[in-house]
Amino acid sequence: ESLRAYAVPKLKEKQAFSNQLQPQASFKVAVLGAAGGIGQPLGLLIKMSPLVSELHLYDIANVKGVAADLSHCNTPSQVIDFTGPSELANCLKGVDVVVIPAGVPRKPGMTRDDLFNINAGIVKSLMEVVADNCPDAFIHIISNPVNSSVPIAAEVLKQKGVYDPKKLFGVTTLDVVRANTFVAQKKQLQLIDVDVPVIGGHAGITILPLLSKTMPSVTFTDEEIENLTVRIQNAGTEVVEAKAGAGSATLSMAYAAARFVESSLRALDGDGDVYECSFVQSELTDLPFFASRVKLGKKGIEAFVSADLDGLTEYEAKALEALKPELKASIEKGVAFVHRMA
Ligand code: NAI
Repeated sequence: ESLRAYAVPKLKEKQAFSNQLQPQASFKVAVLGAAGGIGQPLGLLIKMSPLVSELHLYDIANVKGVAADLSHCNTPSQVIDFTGPSELANCLKGVDVVVIPAGVPRKPGMTRDDLFNINAGIVKSLMEVVADNCPDAFIHIISNPVNSSVPIAAEVLKQKGVYDPKKLFGVTTLDVVRANTFVAQKKQLQLIDVDVPVIGGHAGITILPLLSKTMPSVTFTDEEIENLTVRIQNAGTEVVEAKAGAGSATLSMAYAAARFVESSLRALDGDGDVYECSFVQSELTDLPFFASRVKLGKKGIEAFVSADLDGLTEYEAKALEALKPELKASIEKGVAFVHRMA
């Protein structure tokens, strides 16, 4: 609806359209890594949100052009560019949500963990500035390996004495988006209705779609469950291979990240009915971080949807036990990285 208004303002719609030019809320969002494959389409999607008054775009290079380009879209938010570490603090002051897609993506044959050596340092150094300048913001970590980069972010915030576990999120929305798409296709359901919780983490077998909890309720054969689970777990690799060296998912990732940003902004705006899956500090299992559905509110996570872990099928219960050692190792690797550098 709002998109149509942005695209074709007929004269008689002028009044309605000018209302669209006013933000409906005035939240400030920063994207770190904004000139990248994810950052650019993500900036565009956030630029379309009526809840955003300022969009801060940060990268180490090439961000001026992206910001100039986006700033010509006649949607409410103001776009401001920030280049290089000397401008990062100003980019972050006063923002409500920080989204971090900075870092290198996978090439064919690589696992997400292969990115650790480069991306761990990037996330750590960005988080130090986030901790100093906007410790109260919702922080969305996209940079892989998410299973390690979220613990890295948490350790940096702890060292700075500003860690609020309710506001640090690993973005796993793309796993949910993919699960919803694949299940709707397989079962010929209306896409808009389908919701599959995805728990665990964000790499290989740590991605565990709970197909038995699909809404609306559907039944699957054992073979369908196995095929869908494996496809959802490997969907990122499908894209990496199709791009054949040109990177990993960027457009679907931007779509998923924009959904998570919009959900966070609605929660900040007082909407009492916002649920998303995310990789967060958690007590649902014996692991310190775990992805599950959470209820979002003005102060971040308001509740964990623990019921998703009740009554798992035998397949899901086994897969949950099987993923724990790998997820635990990735979490510990992230924590150890920060302590080693201290
Ligand atoms: P890209 O290489 O196209 O873009 C990365 C951007 O980060 C570049 O513009 C680069 O200049 C910037 N950057 C590098 N170092 C930086 C620093 N220190 N500060 C600020 N910016 C910096 O990569 P792409 O495709 O956008 O992917 C970004 C990350 O997102 C990768 O780590 C990738 O693995 C991850 N990813 C995560 C997904 C998820 O579901 N959570 C899905 C897809 C990708």
